[in-house]
Amino acid sequence: MEFLDLPQLLSAAGSVRLPGSKSISNRVLLLAALAEGETEVRDLLASDDTERMLEALQTLGVGVTSLGGEAWKIVGCGGRFPVRQAELFLGNAGTAFRPLTAALALAGGDYVLRGVARMHERPIGDLVDGLRQLGADVTYLGNDGYPPLQLKPATIRPDGAVKVRGDVSSQFLTGLLMALPLTGETVTVDVVGELISKPYIEITLATMARFGVVVERDGWQRFTVRAGSRYVSPGTVYVEGDASSASYFLALGAIGGGPMRVEGVGADSIQGDVKFAEALAQMGALIETGPNWMEARAPQGGLVAVDLDCNHIPDAAMTLATAALFAKGTTTLRNIASWRVKETDRIAAMATELRKLGAVVEEGADFIRITPSTVKPAAIDTYDDHRMAMCFSLAAFATPLRINDPKCVAKTFPDYFTRFAAVTRAAPVIAIDGPSASGKGTVAARVAAALGFSYLDSGALYRLTALAAKRANVAWDDEAAVAAIAGGLDVVFTESDICLAGVPVGDAIRSEEISAGASKVAALPAVREALLFRQRAFGKAPGLVGDGRDMGSVIFPQASLKVFLTASAEARAERRYKQLIEKGFSANLPDLLSDLQQRDARDSQRSVAPLRQEADAQMLETTHLTIEQAVKQVLDWYAEATAQ
Ligand code: DC
Repeated sequence: MEFLDLPQLLSAAGSVRLPGSKSISNRVLLLAALAEGETEVRDLLASDDTERMLEALQTLGVGVTSLGGEAWKIVGCGGRFPVRQAELFLGNAGTAFRPLTAALALAGGDYVLRGVARMHERPIGDLVDGLRQLGADVTYLGNDGYPPLQLKPATIRPDGAVKVRGDVSSQFLTGLLMALPLTGETVTVDVVGELISKPYIEITLATMARFGVVVERDGWQRFTVRAGSRYVSPGTVYVEGDASSASYFLALGAIGGGPMRVEGVGADSIQGDVKFAEALAQMGALIETGPNWMEARAPQGGLVAVDLDCNHIPDAAMTLATAALFAKGTTTLRNIASWRVKETDRIAAMATELRKLGAVVEEGADFIRITPSTVKPAAIDTYDDHRMAMCFSLAAFATPLRINDPKCVAKTFPDYFTRFAAVTRAAPVIAIDGPSASGKGTVAARVAAALGFSYLDSGALYRLTALAAKRANVAWDDEAAVAAIAGGLDVVFTESDICLAGVPVGDAIRSEEISAGASKVAALPAVREALLFRQRAFGKAPGLVGDGRDMGSVIFPQASLKVFLTASAEARAERRYKQLIEKGFSANLPDLLSDLQQRDARDSQRSVAPLRQEADAQMLETTHLTIEQAVKQVLDWYAEATAQ
């Protein structure tokens, strides 16, 4: 599984131009396809969901041309798709599946609509019931109430009246409303039950109006589309920036200082999720808005918990759940039952992953309650849900963390993590690599102390692994068994010692035997993999100095400063000799030199993460330097690197 490791973040500020709104993009594409005339769609979201819609329209014979950038030309078919028989694959794109089901059921053709396995678990029965009341011919090809579907030409009943449930997903009503002009009749839709996610219906009505169809309405209960309504291209349509995507950056500003500005969506947006800014303001964030932008800053004293009905901002409310990790008190998000039928069961997923980070979470059928606690590093699963990945990126302000399958953000925001990196500042890392006994450990520890940073002796992890394997009678070349030991090491670094399974190890990991064992286990790829995240989890505020062989090349390639610290083999053997004698061990200089040379060879010739000087690392040759001189040199380089 692919993953992305995030170091702990220190601050966030800057400006982000948002990708186009997913909800608006797919509505505009469908209406442009159904309209008379050509539409130029600008600032369209480039993502999985819109790709599924564009592919589907092409399959249906609609003229779809890329104009470069995020602009597309759609040649409308005036309500009749040229291709009357087709099978469409719509992935996990609910914003493509629901409206296309409605449009194709009423457009008069023979179609099969499929998606990924999760799409086949997402209910569509309420929409199909509504369509059948109009005379649509829809068959469930799998389970009743769920995709895949077969659609045959409808026999439209005149003067239709449809009842549709509004309390599971507003996408059913959206799909139905957008398709109604295809019936040629006057149709009235009555919503049964409390309509959820009302702002999405506002988007639907506003987009339909843009294409010339005005829906008459009686509050949120009854909607009427008159006979003779037809879609006409408005020429050029600009898609607003995605207000749900804006939520992550506004939250970054609210947690990480700010000011963080999002551009492309603002006070006069038609998207309900702009109300997220108000929710964030209730948590204490300082918010400013303009016609096409919003900005967030952190309040003095930090965020505070809220108790909120989130029915009007179902998607953006997920961002409040991870922002709650930074709020004083217990946050409760209510009226979010729709989370359970989204890309995944979002209430369950959110609760599980927040708990991994140490939060206390309570979940109910339609609410989630979060109390932050001491946050610990964790690997976060994302459930093929773009919003899970983006929401949890915020937690990096509390701890280094791993995001599994980060590319799931492609559904709505393919370059999210690149934009995220551009506006956040991570805890700095100084990576010091070099051969055995070069003195890098001493230098690294002193540099860390001088800067107030923490210190990672990564070699100690390989030494501990070798020691733990020996104690468990596991051979050092038994890759799988040693990797399991490395993955499960119960180790705590204290000021004065290292504790393995609660017991201080003292000098037991410094013997020549364990040094040789460490070098052997360090050559095993599975062992290095098992220790990767454990090392990255040291990347905490205010900063870290790590020493080893692959700090700059593999573990912290983004390090602010990389140093390759070395000395001649003879000088290193002599340093080791003195150390051992001082500690009361017996030692033999020629043997030490030959052992060192063997270890050097193994460390630099192994296939994974071999010891080598990175192109962007500073060479620090210490054969003729004192420790103080070496420390000063590293501090000087660091000051230079961070002054730029
Ligand atoms: O730095 P040290 O001598 O304590 O390291 C012990 C062994 O672990 C050494 O043979 C190299 C290996 N090691 C490694 O492969 N990668 C690191 N980042 C650190 C140490």
